[in-house]
Amino acid sequence: MICLRDILFIILGLIVLKNLLVAFFFYGDIRAAQKRDPAAKSFVEILLLYQGLHALVAYRAAHFFYLLHLYFLARFISQMARWATGIEIHPGAKIGRRFFIDHGMGVVIGETAIVGDDVLLYQGVTLGGTGLAHEKRHPTIGNNVVIGGGAKVLGNITVGDNSYIGANAVVIKDVPANSTVVGVPGRITKQDGKKIDVSLDHIHILDPIMQNIEELEKRIEKLEKK
Ligand SMILES: CC(C)(COP(=O)(O)OP(=O)(O)OC[C@H]1O[C@@H](n2cnc3c(N)ncnc32)[C@H](O)[C@@H]1OP(=O)(O)O)[C@@H](O)C(=O)NCCC(=O)NCCS
Repeated sequence: MICLRDILFIILGLIVLKNLLVAFFFYGDIRAAQKRDPAAKSFVEILLLYQGLHALVAYRAAHFFYLLHLYFLARFISQMARWATGIEIHPGAKIGRRFFIDHGMGVVIGETAIVGDDVLLYQGVTLGGTGLAHEKRHPTIGNNVVIGGGAKVLGNITVGDNSYIGANAVVIKDVPANSTVVGVPGRITKQDGKKIDVSLDHIHILDPIMQNIEELEKRIEKLEKK
């Protein structure tokens, strides 16, 4: 006859087993989190308490079922993970190795997003879609990219390797490798380690206010000549 104590032991055993399996299969991701979060005190702390890791574990399971075309089950796992962690990763997204979401709350990764290796996202990041067509409509993020808190990367665009997206930036155009992008809409402030002087850069200016000012300046110049 099974008593309550046995049931508790079984549950405890399953929890320990689950965490051992996660520690084994997600060793690289946990080490990456340890490297990239100065607040992380130990491997065990990340294993047990980091919702970014828990969301990733759930995503890997959901993605497995997505690939088997078990879409409802895949979506069910991802919604449970969203409920538990505040992080929504669509099971169809493709995510590389040593992926780390720090803090995590409010992160949304869309169905056709592709994320490279060694990528770090902070809370509130959206890798979002534009348009309703059933085609690639979410971004592709290269390797070793950092996306700051609250940043939105929208549409079928590419963020090149080793790039930084500043906190709260809204990125709607391709970002070349080794770039830093800030602002709304996102503009490149650094490339290959060199600062880009926005006032001289006529390729990357996307800011409509700057464009209006430039037009006004031209009109004033014309009037002055008259
Ligand atoms: C963009 C970022 C990566 C810094 O890159 P950097 O190359 O070191 O940039 P700098 O600090 O030299 O700043 C370059 C310019 O961009 C501006 N800038 C920096 N971050 C910005 C941001 N998020 N939004 C708007 N402007 C920003 C700076 O004021 C500076 O402007 P200036 O040239 O007119 O003085 C960083 O500021 C950032 O946003 N990191 C995200 C961190 C984060 O989200 N942490 C969450 C922890 S919980």
